[in-house]
Amino acid sequence: MAKIVFSAVQPSGIPTIGNYVGAIKNWVGLQDEYDCIFSIADLHTLTVRQTPAELRARTLELLALYVACGIDPEKCVLFAQSHVHEHAELTWILNTITSVGEMQRMTQFKDKSQKHAENVNMGLMDYPVLMAADILLYGTEFVPVGADQKQHLEIARDLAMRFNSRYSPTFVVPEPLIPKCGARVMSLQDPSSKMSKSDLNLNGFISMDDTPEEIVKKFKRAVTDSDSRVCFDEQSKPGVSNLMTIYALFTDKTVSEVEAEFDGVGYGDFKQRVGEAVAETLKPIQKRKADLLNDKDYLFSILKSGAEKASYIAMKTLRKVYKKVGLLQI
Ligand code: TYM
Repeated sequence: MAKIVFSAVQPSGIPTIGNYVGAIKNWVGLQDEYDCIFSIADLHTLTVRQTPAELRARTLELLALYVACGIDPEKCVLFAQSHVHEHAELTWILNTITSVGEMQRMTQFKDKSQKHAENVNMGLMDYPVLMAADILLYGTEFVPVGADQKQHLEIARDLAMRFNSRYSPTFVVPEPLIPKCGARVMSLQDPSSKMSKSDLNLNGFISMDDTPEEIVKKFKRAVTDSDSRVCFDEQSKPGVSNLMTIYALFTDKTVSEVEAEFDGVGYGDFKQRVGEAVAETLKPIQKRKADLLNDKDYLFSILKSGAEKASYIAMKTLRKVYKKVGLLQI
């Protein structure tokens, strides 16, 4: 049997090119070799205030995006997290072996508590445990994610090992798959912070829905430096290096090829070409996504069959877990 790959994206906004190159693009290459399960982490989004109608629409849009990017629903299990109730149930069990201190130390929890100081809810703190439940329910070996999820993967691994040693071997201990290039695409306006779909500064990120004009305009405005050479140095030239990484990923070139290509080219032309390369790649994806969204019945049929397949595996794992912790079976 092939090894299991699991990953997910939150439908908390329109995904950015960071989500694409850090995660979704890499999933496409895994589907022939592994049994892939890709989820839409809708329960995770509730840790921040959402508009219900928007959340529903974005859930379907994210599914359409997965498929438009090349994830094949015939080969992979695609489902919404809330459609498989075992995720919430395993979270409860894992909560009982998680310490409050280790959750309070999570970088993302600290960042988000500051950003949403008016709404530091229990869910926000418990977010990594729900993510661990997502992963552990399916006997996942590999989790393809961007670098920002590494700490959460550590928690999933710790909880798997803790449960296995406290009760008996139950969970596979998952490994993160973090790409060498593109694991952390930075904001176009502040190259010291990660590109994020929830950035209030719309010029900081390229969404997967941006038009070619918007894309080129945002790249033209990207923060660089006072030098004028297009060369890769993440320490002293973070803005330019970020743009070079993006260009390399969207043209399937290496960073040194990119450096050679832009030797002697000014920042203005360089940024224009990065924008054009990104726009060119996104165009067919956007077209496929729009077509898919015109066929809601098809999208719902994917979610239904995905939920059925995921539930079957999740139910078996949860039953085992309930038994091991001593819950009476009837
Ligand atoms: P989310 O929705 O924040 O991001 C989805 C994926 O995109 C990656 N990513 C990036 N990669 C490169 N550069 C960036 N600027 C960038 N921003 C985001 C993330 O690393 C992630 O791989 N908690 C998760 C969703 C989740 C999950 C899971 C992931 C829920 N359950 C189980 C894996 C396994 C999240 O919020 O991702």
